[in-house]
Amino acid sequence: MAQATSFPYKTAAITGASSGIGEALALELAGRGCHVGLLARRQDRLEQVAREVEKMGARAVIAPCDVSDRRQVREAIDRVRQELGPIDLLIANAGVGDPVKATKFDVDRVELLYRVNVLGAIYAIGAVLPEMLDRRFGHIVGISSLAGYRGFPYSSTYCATKAALRVQLEGLRVELRPFGIYVTTVSPGFIRTPMTAKNKFYMPFLMDADVAARKIANAIARKRRTFDFPWQMALFVRLLRLLPPFAYDRLIRPYKEW
Ligand SMILES: NC(=O)c1ccc[n+]([C@@H]2O[C@H](COP(=O)([O-])OP(=O)(O)OC[C@H]3O[C@@H](n4cnc5c(N)ncnc54)[C@H](OP(=O)(O)O)[C@@H]3O)[C@@H](O)[C@H]2O)c1
Repeated sequence: MAQATSFPYKTAAITGASSGIGEALALELAGRGCHVGLLARRQDRLEQVAREVEKMGARAVIAPCDVSDRRQVREAIDRVRQELGPIDLLIANAGVGDPVKATKFDVDRVELLYRVNVLGAIYAIGAVLPEMLDRRFGHIVGISSLAGYRGFPYSSTYCATKAALRVQLEGLRVELRPFGIYVTTVSPGFIRTPMTAKNKFYMPFLMDADVAARKIANAIARKRRTFDFPWQMALFVRLLRLLPPFAYDRLIRPYKEW
């Protein structure tokens, strides 16, 4: 259920709002009375999401852009700001998760993952931060992943981008707190979205995107520093992190599909 009274922000910009977690977050925040700026490449999908948001009584501004292009991100954020006013909350969510195998190490694909998952988030942060610092108010959320806690075979590039985002946000969190700006790193396990629909392997504790969005919005409202979920996967990954390299390699090698 929507929790309109408890949500502390009036305006949010969400990257990757055209599907999956980003779309679900747009609807969840709208239900909590927050106006949303929707960023992604597919304009038709953004228009659909905007219509859903408006049905819930919140305002939506679409700002189509490719997050791997710094200028486009800046212009998209400016557009959201012009229409909705100062941005209280940024959710840097846009991401791609294609596997890159070591035996077919496609450097172009590796570069794309870094551009979208890491630089895309950095460009969005760069576009909102000066105003947040001026206002001494704001909240930056990055959607990392539980996959970012170790290098999984076949998706180590994805894991590395998510680790980079997590570490970047950790330092920013400490630096920005005295300026009234909160930073939350969200690390989901498996969420049912177009990204995971391609996976052929079993995904334990797979969660629907609307459930994930509700949990993420609650974590934002509580100004959590980090939010790793679902707890069962978070616990599993925490245990994986404790394993020494030889034990990790032995355990993870059989998972050919990862
Ligand atoms: N699903 C999971 O199990 C899971 C788990 C952990 C973390 N995550 C993270 O959650 C985030 C959302 O993923 P999802 O599962 O919701 O996948 P999704 O449904 O495929 O959504 C990805 C979103 O990112 C946008 N995007 C991709 N490349 C872009 C680009 N170059 N410029 C602008 N937008 C771009 C897509 O929009 P356009 O194609 O319209 O541009 C789309 O809105 C990602 O960062 C992902 O790594 C997902």
